[in-house]
Amino acid sequence: MFRPIIAICLAAAVTGVMLAAAPARAAQPYVGSAACQPCHAGEYEKFQKYSKKAKSWKSVATMAPKLTPEELRGCYECHVTGYGKGGFVDYATTPQFADVGCETCHGPGAAHADAGDPSLIGKPTMATCEGCHNESRVRSFGFKPLLHSGAH
Ligand code: HEC
Ligand code: HEC
Ligand code: HEC
Ligand code: HEC
Repeated sequence: MFRPIIAICLAAAVTGVMLAAAPARAAQPYVGSAACQPCHAGEYEKFQKYSKKAKSWKSVATMAPKLTPEELRGCYECHVTGYGKGGFVDYATTPQFADVGCETCHGPGAAHADAGDPSLIGKPTMATCEGCHNESRVRSFGFKPLLHSGAH
């Protein structure tokens, strides 16, 4: 199970991906999942405990020593929050965005987290998921990903 998934990820990373936009709302910054906790303790605790997304940085960090800087940046498309969109920059600068957090599905939430106004936060659609969970990527195996996944 482990190796094929890594190969898929590498294939996606090196071929480049376009993420489907998170739900559109008025422009507002990302704030990080911890900011959601005070008002949504239930969702937050379940998410941190059971979702693999909440540990998605670890998946990348484990493999990072084998990757070129370009390949590593490819991982950010799907394994962190808001890369290239005002969220994740790098681990040292923005550790609060280093996993796939609430805002990858709900969109940036700083204004909603300030005001607690439900009209300021989005709900995901299938298109939101497909930005990262996409069948076509599963087929795009290549030589280098297989090599990295441990063929030798
Ligand atoms: C200051 C409190 C507060 C914070 C912080 C907060 N929310 Fe909310 N949120 C609310 C309230 C109040 C509602 C409306 C009642 C409800 O659904 O619980 C709501 C509703 C929602 C909804 C449902 C919206 C709808 O259309 O029904 C989502 C999704 C949501 N919040 C996500 C988040 C996320 C993600 C964060 C962190 C970025 C966050 N919230 C931070 C108070 C907050
Ligand atoms: C920003 C990219 C991204 C988006 C958007 C996204 N996912 Fe994920 N998802 C991931 C990553 C990355 C993992 C694997 C994390 C790991 O194991 O390192 C994952 C894991 C999962 C898993 C595996 C089980 C688990 O406990 O996490 C499921 C199921 C899942 N996602 C469903 C969804 C659904 C449904 C949506 C849309 C509502 C969605 N995802 C949107 C990136 C994303
Ligand atoms: C196009 C989106 C995408 C890209 C790019 C991507 N991944 Fe993933 N990755 C996922 C998803 C989705 C999952 C969860 C698969 C599942 O559980 O269904 C995942 C899971 C993983 C896992 C967990 C495997 C397991 O068995 O638990 C590792 C490790 C991983 N990715 C590493 C990487 C690395 C390293 C990169 C960059 C070279 C990368 N990924 C790039 C989407 C992506
Ligand atoms: C994988 C995507 C995904 C992630 C990540 C995610 N959510 Fe959600 N969330 C959803 C979906 C799907 C719904 C249901 C939307 C609907 O009813 O149309 C939802 C609904 C909600 C609601 C509305 C009440 C409810 O339970 O239906 C709140 C509040 C909420 N999420 C908060 C959060 C918080 C806080 C986090 C992070 C700790 C988070 N979500 C992470 C997909 C996600």
